[in-house]
Amino acid sequence: MLPRYRLLDGAWGLFAVANLGAMLLWPSWETIPFHFIWVSLTLLYGFRVWPLSPTLGVLGAVCFVTGDFILEDIHSGAQVAGELTEVPLMSAMFLAMVWHARRRQVATRHAEALAESRASLLARQESFLHDVSHELRTPVTIARGHLELLDGRSPELAVALDELGRIDRIIDRLLLLAKAERPDFLAASEVDVERFVEDVFVRWSDVTPRVWRLGPLACGTVWADEEALRIALDALLENAVKYTEPDETIELRAARRAGDIVIEVADGGCGIPNEAMGRIFERFARADDARTRELGGAGLGLAMVDAIACAHGGLCSARAARPRGTVFALRLPNFVSTRRSVADWAVAR
Ligand SMILES: Nc1ncnc2c1ncn2[C@@H]1O[C@H](COP(=O)(O)OP(=O)(O)OP(=O)(O)O)[C@@H](O)[C@H]1O
Ligand SMILES: [Mg+2]
Repeated sequence: MLPRYRLLDGAWGLFAVANLGAMLLWPSWETIPFHFIWVSLTLLYGFRVWPLSPTLGVLGAVCFVTGDFILEDIHSGAQVAGELTEVPLMSAMFLAMVWHARRRQVATRHAEALAESRASLLARQESFLHDVSHELRTPVTIARGHLELLDGRSPELAVALDELGRIDRIIDRLLLLAKAERPDFLAASEVDVERFVEDVFVRWSDVTPRVWRLGPLACGTVWADEEALRIALDALLENAVKYTEPDETIELRAARRAGDIVIEVADGGCGIPNEAMGRIFERFARADDARTRELGGAGLGLAMVDAIACAHGGLCSARAARPRGTVFALRLPNFVSTRRSVADWAVAR
């Protein structure tokens, strides 16, 4: 079968021949089929952008044949002499359009090449990140193994083991970030939102002294990777705990919004300065470096939450809570509600 663009060229050829026939048959009306030929050629070129030599060839042929027909009609008195100027004028207009179309084509190719090299650079970066994290894991495991064999409970040993634990966590997060772009990153299944959020809540509230609250929960299911969601919610709760005092509140709730589910972690802690809100989801970003270093964060938790949300086709956002603290909202699409619950209208925005 002929490719579509060849059919388009053929159709235009037939249309041009029919119009040339009309120019011959009705000499006094010939400007109408004459213009039809030019307009259709311009339209066709807009879609096709032929290489330069066929373009000039077609242009020459159209100029020659139509010019010849008009010249004959001028001789026979069917057209005035001025009609002939239409031929160079129409060709000049067509050439201007050819120039613009070719410029646009070059710009598009350039943009495509840039996008391709950017994508390959990103892929190489991710694979580098993956390899480095992977390679670090073995020496860390060996070092921990040897330290654990040492006798005694010296504070130095505890510090060394603690630091190795931190490195381990950073490696885990880097590996997850490197994997997040891959198509097989998620192993999705139906997740019961109410059960899932309650589970996470119990796990945290049982062991961490805070003023815990379980807010309204929407009833229904979401198509998601439960393990990845748990990692994301744990990272948000870990932050909430890290940036609150024992007498401050942490609330977990889930509400339906349009076809999405929004799981929120709201804390009454120190909050995030407005100017830092825009960058906290970036890798290694911290709202307040001094304070975070004290609390031991690498700045990878929220980047990981964001990557998990994006892999689900959702997003994670943060806003200030009133009177103080922060609300993190993890929004996921494809929520199937099983019954209306108070949470459907409870989460205020
Ligand atoms: N609930 C919160 N309250 C106040 N500040 C927060 C809260 N959550 C995050 N932040 C700020 O956002 C920054 C980025 O958070 P993120 O979880 O990515 O990194 P981290 O907690 O510092 O380190 P990591 O999670 O890798 O251990 C934090 O350093 C902190 O300044
Ligand atoms: Mg964190």
